[in-house]
Amino acid sequence: MLTSRIIGTGSCAPATVLTNHDLERMVDTTDQWVRTRTGIAERRVCGPGEDSATLAEGAALQALAAAGVDSMDLDMLLVATITPAVPFPATACLVQEALKARRAAAFDIGAGCSGFIYGLAVADSLIRSGSARTILLVGAESLSKFVNWKDRNTCVLFGDGAGAVVLQAQEGGPGLRSTHLYSDGAEWALLAAPGGGSRFPLSEQVLQEGLHLIHMQSGTEVFRLAVRAMEEACMAALKANRLEVSDVDLIIPHQANARIIQTLANRLAFPEAKIVLNLDRYGNTSAASIPLALDEAVRDGRVQPGMTLLLTAFGTGVTWASAVLTWQGNGVATGPLRGGAVRRDPREDKGATVAVEEKVKRIIVEQLGVQESQVKPEAKLADDLGLGADSLDAVGLVMALEEEFNLQILDTEAEQVQTVQDAIQYIKGRTHA
Ligand code: UT7
Repeated sequence: MLTSRIIGTGSCAPATVLTNHDLERMVDTTDQWVRTRTGIAERRVCGPGEDSATLAEGAALQALAAAGVDSMDLDMLLVATITPAVPFPATACLVQEALKARRAAAFDIGAGCSGFIYGLAVADSLIRSGSARTILLVGAESLSKFVNWKDRNTCVLFGDGAGAVVLQAQEGGPGLRSTHLYSDGAEWALLAAPGGGSRFPLSEQVLQEGLHLIHMQSGTEVFRLAVRAMEEACMAALKANRLEVSDVDLIIPHQANARIIQTLANRLAFPEAKIVLNLDRYGNTSAASIPLALDEAVRDGRVQPGMTLLLTAFGTGVTWASAVLTWQGNGVATGPLRGGAVRRDPREDKGATVAVEEKVKRIIVEQLGVQESQVKPEAKLADDLGLGADSLDAVGLVMALEEEFNLQILDTEAEQVQTVQDAIQYIKGRTHA
């Protein structure tokens, strides 16, 4: 039976730090109020040129490196976010382009602060059904761009960041053991950015009223709901896995408020020391908070192979969720998968370099109708080999190379290729030969 496991984690946060003391100069608040009510001391906020897609890319690169996976091997790329880089297309598509993950199908998941666990559930289903073998899941948010910096009730709570995991199919093995997902749309207005969509499109009025920014009707109500909901999700997860609370090695909760997490720990009778907390440094980063905390705990060694991890979240929607996984460690799963595609890694093939040169030269001979002896490395495709006399020659050459090497070559990339050697180098770069 196919199951999924996390084989690499990564995270990324903007360099700009906004402390509670900085906020004291912006709204009527104090460092002490924010620390005691929330546990937050500082948060990261995007600088120029940073957004949810760039943060996601940074986290994804780390996760791919940790997993030893090439972006071209991704079958699926999911981004959980409520602060997309652009209204459409999906932020996942922007990340796909940045990573050159050309084989992946890419889409976003909008489930608020529970988005990462919702994403785990989607990824797990795709892997178990055999529809995908290797999936990148990122939680990425730039909430600072949706915060009303004049509203002390909300502006002290949120921050920016991204966390990513690579999931891969394995034959048997525990890995991701369960996910439980819940929603209650009756409470949608409790925490929302109601403007800027198709119901209240951006207008002077929407901007003046700040409807495009985060509105929280009652923090206290959110607090109560969050505790009860996460307790429900955790209990369901334990029951489904026939686990006692004492069997859990670490809880990695959504990081909204340390007081919510302490209350949850008390109700579950779970030691606070075994809860991964980093919201003192990041604030509430919504869908990014769990993978950010997971990556931190993996990298500092708190997460060890064999450990049972319980993840839980609550957020806008309202949505809540839990997941249980047995940590198996970073690194690509070894051995071929029954029923799954096994691809050859061209970097392991010593003959690949020679093969690429020969194939590129043969295609040039065939497509441009020139002699083999003319196709020297320094030969210029236009001046020496006649490319461009007929514009369809170039199209034919590009298409033949794309088919031979299973690539998509952009016009802008093709324009850079001047000589035979350029073409060989370009194909080698794209195929890692
Ligand atoms: O992913 C889910 C996202 N949302 C959350 O997790 C939010 C959950 N809720 C909370 O974390 C807490 O409810 C808050 C931290 C937001 C607020 O704490 P609270 O103890 O529920 O405060 P409150 O809303 O009941 O307000 C108490 C007082 C009010 O003053 P008055 O009316 O008693 O004079 C507020 O105006 O605290 C005041 N207040 C502040 N004072 C200083 C609210 N925000 C601030 C502030 N600094 N930043």
